[in-house]
Amino acid sequence: MDELLEWRKEFPILDNTVYMISHSLGAMPRRTRDRLNEYADMWATRGIRAWDEGWWEMPRGVGDLVGKIIGAGAGEVVMHQNVSVCQSIILSCLDFSSKRNKIVSESFNFPSNLYIYHAVERQGARLITVDSEDGITVPIDKMLAAIDEETLLVSVSHVIFRSAYVQDLQRLTERAHEVGAMIVADLYQSAGTYPVNVRELNLDFATGGSVKWLCGGPGAGYLYVRRDLWQSLEPAVTGWLAHKRPFAFEIGANDYADDIYRFLHGSPAIPAIYAAMSGYEIINEIGVEKIRQKSIRQTTRLLEMAEEAGFKINCPRNVEERGGTIIIDVPNGQQVTQELSRRDFLVDFRPGAGIRIAPHFYTKDEELELTIREIKTILETGAYKQHSATVAH
Ligand SMILES: Cc1ncc(COP(=O)(O)O)c(C=O)c1O
Repeated sequence: MDELLEWRKEFPILDNTVYMISHSLGAMPRRTRDRLNEYADMWATRGIRAWDEGWWEMPRGVGDLVGKIIGAGAGEVVMHQNVSVCQSIILSCLDFSSKRNKIVSESFNFPSNLYIYHAVERQGARLITVDSEDGITVPIDKMLAAIDEETLLVSVSHVIFRSAYVQDLQRLTERAHEVGAMIVADLYQSAGTYPVNVRELNLDFATGGSVKWLCGGPGAGYLYVRRDLWQSLEPAVTGWLAHKRPFAFEIGANDYADDIYRFLHGSPAIPAIYAAMSGYEIINEIGVEKIRQKSIRQTTRLLEMAEEAGFKINCPRNVEERGGTIIIDVPNGQQVTQELSRRDFLVDFRPGAGIRIAPHFYTKDEELELTIREIKTILETGAYKQHSATVAH
């Protein structure tokens, strides 16, 4: 008996699709529609008073729901729009003009993060990226060796988006701190499926978003900053919500707030925050440890079946090194993915990696078999060929 399957009725899309894509877009909880109605009702009936009656506090209040999932304390997480904005805010706290100006990362970090790091090369930053040697893992020894006294920031993805490889945040954080550097972890591919505790790890910054395992939809990212760093950091990417007295509308430089609002900028994306809440509540209610146990069982089963089918595996076989997704590389993977979607099997494809398949807490065991069988059938019958012409879109 899998008690987590009780949750299926809370996710309408599970009634008519085999939903194996929570690493990309988690299924929408039924109650999210009520939350969005709540937002509309609030605006419609309370008008401008809505700010005082809830909206103003939402970036922190809802941040606390995420905080519980990632082990942050109350008031230590603030809601933003996405990871890219959070990374930009973090970088804007740093000064790259001295000898300590290195950013150490992995070339398998999410490309958007790397675009942002490259952009600060103009300000003197030196970006060092460590390559994967096998197309799946990131060599920890090379990462540790790259972090030295000239390193200002270490930036790592906890779970690599294209291979589901789990990085050792503990060792990376210890090394960063040993040489006087700070560390930011992108938790997008871990939070909600793989346990993480930002305070136990002693991370300086953490960021992630709601679109995937947290089932919160687009437009809601989060930023954690270690409390004892707050006073020393003054983001250049800022705005009036980060001011100590926003409603004084003072002229002059920002007098930064003493709390986590110091890391906000302008008006928050209130509708997206409403949309995100239900997913966070559900993940908290279930608990990530339980989700992880099920994920281990189901990804292991998927891998066994993929191997039996002769598919090339592009993720770690060792369960301790693997997040919630499995990746298989089959010929014409992109077209196969399109054909799967046409048949209501939802997965995705990443160039150079393959087809990403992810069960979540709401996945039935039989759906694992159905997915692998459908891929086999599509390959054997050549059914993917009919979509070759449209794939470029
Ligand atoms: C590890 C990781 N970081 C970041 C993102 C997305 O960044 P953003 O929130 O800026 O869209 C993704 C996926 O879209 C991801 O997998």
